[in-house]
Amino acid sequence: MRRRIATASDLEAILRIESRVFGNPWAPRAYLDEIERPMAIVELAVAEDGAVSGYSCTWHVLAAGEMEAHLLRIAVDPDAQRRGIGRDLLGAVLERATAHGASRVLLEVGASNRAARALYDAAGFAEIGRRAGYYKAPPDDAVVMARPAREAAKTPRPAGC
Ligand SMILES: CC(C)(COP(=O)(O)OP(=O)(O)OC[C@H]1O[C@@H](n2cnc3c(N)ncnc32)[C@H](O)[C@@H]1OP(=O)(O)O)[C@@H](O)C(=O)NCCC(=O)NCCS
Repeated sequence: MRRRIATASDLEAILRIESRVFGNPWAPRAYLDEIERPMAIVELAVAEDGAVSGYSCTWHVLAAGEMEAHLLRIAVDPDAQRRGIGRDLLGAVLERATAHGASRVLLEVGASNRAARALYDAAGFAEIGRRAGYYKAPPDDAVVMARPAREAAKTPRPAGC
């Protein structure tokens, strides 16, 4: 498994996974916008045969004078889940946040999303807030989580990818 930055030619592969794992898939235009947006990084996990197995989308933004990383999306093809790919993608998000000078990394996750919450808990994210009724399809609260970016540099890289 290796990682690379997405280009417009990866759109179809991203959308194939997106439609399999999310009840509220982003539109193709939304991903094209993220691929082209200077403050966004869409990073892929790619198998040896070139197939896209997962992706993350992160913004690096200035908030009240502090650089922050906002993880907007992370997904792994259902056929490739539970092999450490999500952990590897998240590790890369944390490393990039540190490289961009971010003070912290933030994300929102569905309260009922057991897999993603376990992934974030294991990576040291802590709940900092809740947004009741934030998700509509399916209905769910959003849990807002954050962790300092600096710790990311000390986090050992996960094995397996
Ligand atoms: C969340 C997601 C990205 C995890 O990807 P993954 O490649 O399967 O995760 P990993 O194999 O790297 O697992 C890392 C850790 O996360 C936790 N985890 C992952 N999937 C889990 C599951 N189904 N149940 C419980 N814990 C889970 C475990 O702690 C796991 O460590 P372990 O395997 O040593 O027990 C994947 O389940 C997914 O794409 N879900 C749908 C999209 C989504 O909800 N994205 C997050 C919101 S934007």
